[in-house]
Amino acid sequence: GWHESARSVITRDVPMGHWLPVARRVKEVVSIPVMMAFKIFTPELAEEAIARGDIDFWEVCRPMIADPRLPQKAREGREGEIVPCLACNLCFFRLYYHQPIMCTVRPTLGHEGEPDWGYRGLPKAPRRKRVLVIGGGPAGMEFAATAAERGHKVVLCEAQGELGGSLRYAAKVERGDEELLRFVRYLEGRCKREGVEVRLSEGISPEGAKGFDTVVLATGARYAQPPGEVPSILTPPEVFEGSISGERAVVIGGQGVGIAVALYLSGKGLKVSIVEGERRLGRDVNPFYLWRYLQVLKGREVEILTQHEALRFEDGRLLCRCPEGERTLEADLFVTAMREDREVELESWRRWAPEVLLVGDARRPRRLHNAVHEAYRLARGL
Ligand SMILES: Cc1cc2nc3c(=O)[nH]c(=O)nc-3n(C[C@H](O)[C@H](O)[C@H](O)COP(=O)(O)O)c2cc1C
Ligand code: SF4
Repeated sequence: GWHESARSVITRDVPMGHWLPVARRVKEVVSIPVMMAFKIFTPELAEEAIARGDIDFWEVCRPMIADPRLPQKAREGREGEIVPCLACNLCFFRLYYHQPIMCTVRPTLGHEGEPDWGYRGLPKAPRRKRVLVIGGGPAGMEFAATAAERGHKVVLCEAQGELGGSLRYAAKVERGDEELLRFVRYLEGRCKREGVEVRLSEGISPEGAKGFDTVVLATGARYAQPPGEVPSILTPPEVFEGSISGERAVVIGGQGVGIAVALYLSGKGLKVSIVEGERRLGRDVNPFYLWRYLQVLKGREVEILTQHEALRFEDGRLLCRCPEGERTLEADLFVTAMREDREVELESWRRWAPEVLLVGDARRPRRLHNAVHEAYRLARGL
């Protein structure tokens, strides 16, 4: 049983269909129909497994939480419209903590009976607004698609050549994380179906907001850095976009983003230290993942320096305050994972548009589900 398992069973690092041989072995020795769940996430995979004789029925748990209309969409050949489960286990984790269930990719979960929440569709807005969404990450795409569904005329500008924002980086962290791109493709499809005008490789300055009723800043978090001069300090997007050189890295900040960067860099063979002011790492990381991440970091001999507050750079080294006093850390590469909101940018946009909203990490750096749910909530109220 997976409750007793010493390794992950239903997280993203377990490839889809990984457990089907187990079902097949059961089928070989019983004479009753066999069904199984455990990361069989697409109708195509289930069809193949049934055709091969691995299982007789597809037991679907999380994919149906993410999209109860999955069977209907599959039957109608609309697989691309299925809201994909990301195996993030937010739904599961909240039950363990006796909190109402939530789903990262489907904000309406638990509110299906409340018409305002829009599970059965959103009403058209009383007035059609011209909306400019800046940033094509999960928050920007969710906002754009939902606002367009309500009848607004939406333009979505993304500075990069493709949509996805921070999810494109998260998809590079560990084996299996590329499954996160399924959500990018889904949101991209939704934007297209709802008629959002998507402009790629298009950065935009506040003057560009002229003529729009509403501007939505969904440009993700900014990154702070300790004061002082340092030869090489990168932000997480720069780490994931660029080529990494050097042997030793110090990651400043040990919550979700810092852990992701440390996993990525240590996976590339760098010797990594994580500097975190709090007593423990990963306060914002789902426990289903945290225990495994810590195991991986330990296996790669990543140095975890909790209760270390990054003070400033001195002579290219990082000075930290720690329980023993102060210490300095040397590295070829420093990475700041200290996220900040973009509140300071609001004023310059307000000069050009009557309504300016911050959404997602730009509003307050948090986790994926916060960004998606917030974008949905604000867009359905627009
Ligand atoms: C929110 C939630 C609640 C669950 N509750 C139970 C339960 O009460 N008993 C049980 O045996 N399995 C429970 N499961 C496990 C599922 O039945 C299933 O085995 C697991 O999620 C793997 O299937 P999946 O990959 O299709 O999600 C639960 C799963 C989720 C996500
Ligand atoms: S919360 Fe995460 S794991 Fe649960 S159904 Fe939604 S996407 Fe899947």
